Amino acid sequence: MRFFKKDVAAASPAHGKGVNHNNNVHIIEDPRKQVYHWQSEGGGKKSSVDDMVLLSKITESAIAENLKKRFMEDKIYTYIGPVLVAVNPFKQLPYFGEREIEMYQGAAQYEVPPHIYSIADTMYRNMLIDSDSQCVIISGESGAGKTVSAKFIMNYITRISGGGQRVQQVKDIILESNPLLEAFGNAKTTRNNNSSRFGKYIEIQFSSGGEPLGGKISNFLLEKSRVHSLNEGERNFHIFYQLCAGATGDMKNNLGISTPDYFSYLSQSGVYKVDGTNDAHEFQETLRAMSVMGMAEETQMDILSVVAAILHMGNLSFVEQNNAATISDAAFLQFPAYLLGIDEQKLGQKLTSRVFDSKWGGKSERVDVTLNLEQAQFARDAWCKGLYSRMFDYIVETVNKAMVTDANLFSIGILDIYGFEIFGRNGFEQFCINYVNEKLQQIFIELTLKSEQEEYKAEGIQWKPIEFFNNKVVCDLIESKRPPGIMCILDDTCATMSAVSEGADDEFRNKMSSQVGSNPHYQPFNHGFTIKHYAGNVSYHVENFCEKNRDVLFTDIIEVMQGSTNTFIRSLFPDVLQKGSKTRPTTAGTKIRTQANELVTTLMKCVPHYIRCIKPNETKKPHDWDDQMVKHQVEYLGLKENIKVKRAGFAYRRPYQKFLHRYAILTKETWPAWYGEPTEGINVIMRSVNMDPAQYQIGRSKIFVKDPESLYMLEESRERKFDHYARVIQKAFKKYFSKQRYLKEKMAASDLLVNRKERRRNSLNRNFYGDYIGVEYKPGLTALIPRRDKVEFALTVDKFDRRFKKTKRDLILTKSHLYLIGRMQVKKGPEKGQIKDVIKRKIDLENISQATLSTYQDDLVLIHVRNDYESLLEIRFKTEFLMVLNNKLKERHNRELPLNFINSFDFRVKKTGWGGGGTRRVRFTDGTTDEPLFASSGSTLSVKIAHGLSSTSRPGIYVITPDIRILANEMKSPKSNNVPGSKGNLQPPARNFVHRSPGGSPLPRPSGPAPKPPGLAAVSPRPRGPAGPQFRPPSAQPVTSPGFPRPPVARMPLNPGGGPPAFRLPGMGSPPIQAMQPPPPPPSDPCPDNQPSIGNGSSRSVNRPPASLPAKPPINRPKPTVPQVRALYGYDASDIDELTFNEGDIMVLVQEDKSGWWTCRFRGQEGFCPANYLEKM
Ligand SMILES: Nc1ncnc2c1ncn2[C@@H]1O[C@H](COP(=O)(O)OP(=O)(O)O)[C@@H](O)[C@H]1O
Ligand SMILES: [Mg+2]
Repeated sequence: MRFFKKDVAAASPAHGKGVNHNNNVHIIEDPRKQVYHWQSEGGGKKSSVDDMVLLSKITESAIAENLKKRFMEDKIYTYIGPVLVAVNPFKQLPYFGEREIEMYQGAAQYEVPPHIYSIADTMYRNMLIDSDSQCVIISGESGAGKTVSAKFIMNYITRISGGGQRVQQVKDIILESNPLLEAFGNAKTTRNNNSSRFGKYIEIQFSSGGEPLGGKISNFLLEKSRVHSLNEGERNFHIFYQLCAGATGDMKNNLGISTPDYFSYLSQSGVYKVDGTNDAHEFQETLRAMSVMGMAEETQMDILSVVAAILHMGNLSFVEQNNAATISDAAFLQFPAYLLGIDEQKLGQKLTSRVFDSKWGGKSERVDVTLNLEQAQFARDAWCKGLYSRMFDYIVETVNKAMVTDANLFSIGILDIYGFEIFGRNGFEQFCINYVNEKLQQIFIELTLKSEQEEYKAEGIQWKPIEFFNNKVVCDLIESKRPPGIMCILDDTCATMSAVSEGADDEFRNKMSSQVGSNPHYQPFNHGFTIKHYAGNVSYHVENFCEKNRDVLFTDIIEVMQGSTNTFIRSLFPDVLQKGSKTRPTTAGTKIRTQANELVTTLMKCVPHYIRCIKPNETKKPHDWDDQMVKHQVEYLGLKENIKVKRAGFAYRRPYQKFLHRYAILTKETWPAWYGEPTEGINVIMRSVNMDPAQYQIGRSKIFVKDPESLYMLEESRERKFDHYARVIQKAFKKYFSKQRYLKEKMAASDLLVNRKERRRNSLNRNFYGDYIGVEYKPGLTALIPRRDKVEFALTVDKFDRRFKKTKRDLILTKSHLYLIGRMQVKKGPEKGQIKDVIKRKIDLENISQATLSTYQDDLVLIHVRNDYESLLEIRFKTEFLMVLNNKLKERHNRELPLNFINSFDFRVKKTGWGGGGTRRVRFTDGTTDEPLFASSGSTLSVKIAHGLSSTSRPGIYVITPDIRILANEMKSPKSNNVPGSKGNLQPPARNFVHRSPGGSPLPRPSGPAPKPPGLAAVSPRPRGPAGPQFRPPSAQPVTSPGFPRPPVARMPLNPGGGPPAFRLPGMGSPPIQAMQPPPPPPSDPCPDNQPSIGNGSSRSVNRPPASLPAKPPINRPKPTVPQVRALYGYDASDIDELTFNEGDIMVLVQEDKSGWWTCRFRGQEGFCPANYLEKM
């Protein structure tokens, strides 16, 4: 797993100071010396800083100025250390695409430009690294961009987290919950066209592997009074307009839907349209989202019926006669009664009268009293908002049910609430909304300003305190129980009022004056009170505070709804009505207070992250900057104090043990555990990465690391170690268990060339390793290749220039590009004379149009690039290269790589200065050697080369299991059964043998004597002379007869490309590749591999004694105490786990295996040998 990315070049070309872009040449400086873009831009050199910790002057004006400059350049994100400040651009910006999703994955925050994806990525990765739940608190005033931010985070996380079908379903639900809840819970206000009128905390729950398994939404206090009362310039909840605009004809008939101006709940403000919003289109989106939640069509209609019923109820008006209200026009009762499944008359009756339980003496009696006009209107509105909020809760519950999961390992929580708001007239709703914002500010202050400073003090870290305003006093003024705060006083007032009482609100105001009147954050006025909030003074009108706080639906209305013929409606009213119950229903104030405090508890359990949204103007226009407005936000959000604390503070802290555990792998001394003094262990680790001592301080129980880059350095070193071991394990795994895959790969690769190109003798059975350079160990290379761009194939190749001169290049094929990397000497600067890796050519795979090869066995490949010059390369492992390239083209671009096979072709050369351009020709003719002979004259390169294996050659078969045996039988050539020593299906890798006609075309193989086994194909038999292996003196090395060249063997280098120095993890079982080779046998080895053999009478070699044998072999030679085998034929290992041996060699048989590959020991090495090349002794 990768936690950080060193990918500055690709990630941030415009910002990457560490990278010089010079045409095609990218020079990467030493990563440790690298200066990140935002660091270099500080100190006023550049117009703005990405992280305001780097501001030279820390004042509110400087902060606002920095934000403004960035905003004008469309850079809306800026950091304060880990906190993201996001300014609403009021326009779509181009940096939220796939490219950015790729770019931010695993990138360290300061390597790439500030972005909300970086926060999301940090949360996701921290969750996986630390197994801790994370949360992000998105705050800011109404219209500042909180909801949009929350959606970006959800999108990013669902995009980067893996998972199958079930997980995809969860992701769909999470994403689709947004349009659904917004349709029912958002509305246009004067401050925001899509203002959230409810608070939402969504938790996405993950598996230990980071796949979303489920989710949970907690919703906070919907502003339900909006159903019946609209402020000027505002709209009701979106769903009402969506239904009017998007309903089908049938729906319109069934629900009685008309244009919005027909419904008085919508017409009261006269605003029906929202700029840039298509209600009909959104209606379809809402229906779709309902389906994704698993809501049946019937349920969807039930919900829409309630929406319609509310609109119709709103059209009911009353007239008053003798202080009693009656319905103005009873015809208006029809539709709502029908839609709610209740009796028309009952509806009318319940709107104009109410049943009270009245007590006379000891008796209780039900009394029906008529309502006056105002009370009737109130009853209607209460009914409607009750219905609406219950329906809203039902929808949230449905979403939750759709994504419920038992697994609750850890989660990422995203808090998107209604922002702080100040309207011309502020009521109970604003009071609650602003209270919740006050609580969130409190968390921010607690965690980023207060406790951080307290921690430094407690840990004995040198610290100069930074002053800040702690809004706890305001929270207390609102929610305190003792002494009673405003909410308690309100509850008290409500408890003493029997029904709707006109005097209650005044009583509440008076009580406040006496109980909190002296609080400096409280100020009474004629109709209400003003609170000095952290974000500004807000005056609240007390009118209806008591009624809204009581928030009870009359019992008889609930009873009517419980008698509905509609099951759905009944389900919305599960209340158990207890007559004469003494327990008071919970008030709205108590509810929101409880919810807010529970939320705080939940958030405190997670690792918090912050996004501070800023609204740049009230015009909702792009590039419009209201200085005063922004400065005010900067001030109340406490950004200045935030910067000061961050600047003086430490980016990272960890308890000693956690730190030691995480970085134990970095040193021998600390692995697997450090048993000494923890602080000493920490110092050992820090020294191992050359950490500047000024970069960290050791506190009483924790270590503090100052800058994020220092932490990055530790992480990077740790990751490198893990990468290395992962690779060792992977390789071992591949070697032992992936023969089948290898076989398939080889077959697929050979399909590309079969019948088209002759093969090299040793190329067919080679296993594919992909990376023959060890790219990950070479910082010079890794710095050039974006790490997200996975390396698929890497090999050092020869490139032909326009004069046909060969130059070495590292060819690196990634999932998206083909790189040719060369070396260059730095000409200027402090590093003058140093050799650097440079990208000489970078080709987008999309632009590779075709490849041309000859029909001979050579390794030349001409790469054709669309609208550009060709590259002529000599690629040793061309088959593997072509296969990988072909696969990538199929995967990414849905096409195959066209291959041409011709023995004379032209190609264009690169245009460089005056000398370049033009075309060159390559011609192939018959030669006598397997290695090509190159001769150039003018613009033509002649290549002479002997014929290789027939173009019909296919890879040999590893027979591993019975299933594979079938495959093997299908694939093998019938004649290859003749291989000597073949036992049943057991067959070593077969190499095909070809005889060629003078013209080079393959001839059928003669049916005479059995052909030689692999390794000896198409060459004369190895002479068995005095130098025969059986009789080699003990010190003899394997002999290859002069004049009898062994064909080149494709081998996986043990330490690819010179690779990194071998690293042995202290105390860890699996050593690196080099160390995996068994040590040479001890002198007491019972059977030295090169011991002369006596054979067992059945051996062929006994029948074929070499000419120079001593006259008589020694007799009575002891029988070997360990089983031995003799090689019937020579074999060249085609893989690092195989042994190379010559005919007649004697080896120790370690293990037989029915796969046909036996494990033998030979010259101190253990490895696989094809069984039918061997005979037991
Ligand atoms: N990052 C953004 N890119 C484009 N437009 C945005 C962005 N953030 C906010 N907006 C615009 O501002 C409006 C208000 O944002 P929103 O997130 O609803 O505010 P909040 O939730 O804070 O009240 C959005 O509807 C959108 O038009
Ligand atoms: Mg919002």
